[in-house]
Amino acid sequence: MFLSSAVRVAVSRTVCIKITHRDTPENNPDTPFEFTEENLKRIDAIVKMYPEGHKAAATLPVLDLAQRQHGWLPISAMNKVAELLGVPPMRVYEVATFYTMYQRKPVGKYHIQICTTTPCMLCNSDSILEAIQNKLGIKVGETTPDKMFTLIEVECLGACVNAPMVQINDNYYEDLKPQDIEQIIDELKAGRVPPPGPRGGRFSCEPAGGLTSLTEPPPGPGFGVRADL
Ligand code: FES
Repeated sequence: MFLSSAVRVAVSRTVCIKITHRDTPENNPDTPFEFTEENLKRIDAIVKMYPEGHKAAATLPVLDLAQRQHGWLPISAMNKVAELLGVPPMRVYEVATFYTMYQRKPVGKYHIQICTTTPCMLCNSDSILEAIQNKLGIKVGETTPDKMFTLIEVECLGACVNAPMVQINDNYYEDLKPQDIEQIIDELKAGRVPPPGPRGGRFSCEPAGGLTSLTEPPPGPGFGVRADL
């Protein structure tokens, strides 16, 4: 793919900004981090799923466990993951800096990831982004002063058919209009987690205009099996 030099500089700057680690008082190799006993057992079970000599394959789930335990991923947690999996720390940094699912600085209680990739953009994700920013008074990359909400912009989250959408912690909220996301934020502020899924009334990712095929209920268990079996 041809990239103009200006674009290449912009891309490399973006990459550098994203991946560079600088020690801070809250994020440095001495930041306290130890896996809990329960998570150590989970790690053991995860590692056993991979062939002997391929512990490194467990990097993604073990990093995820570290993040769920700590709330975000300090470099000390990455070092611990490297130690447990027997790989050089750089191998873990490479993974943690590549995926937007890993948070390398503290995030709010509710981590809002808005997709603005082409299908979502064509379904007006800009209006959802604007509604979030206005409602929370923060811009992309910022956290509200009460540490309740962090907003980031991400690439496709794989729910394009339900665009525009956001991910909040582990939940997808789809087929959004600005008033939907405002209502979702109000619910979260009130301490309630609204049900995830599409907001337009359709089930999952069925056609927005209703089913056009497979309209009969599916056959139940045993369909087509010989009566004497
Ligand atoms: S483009 Fe937004 S989920 Fe795919």
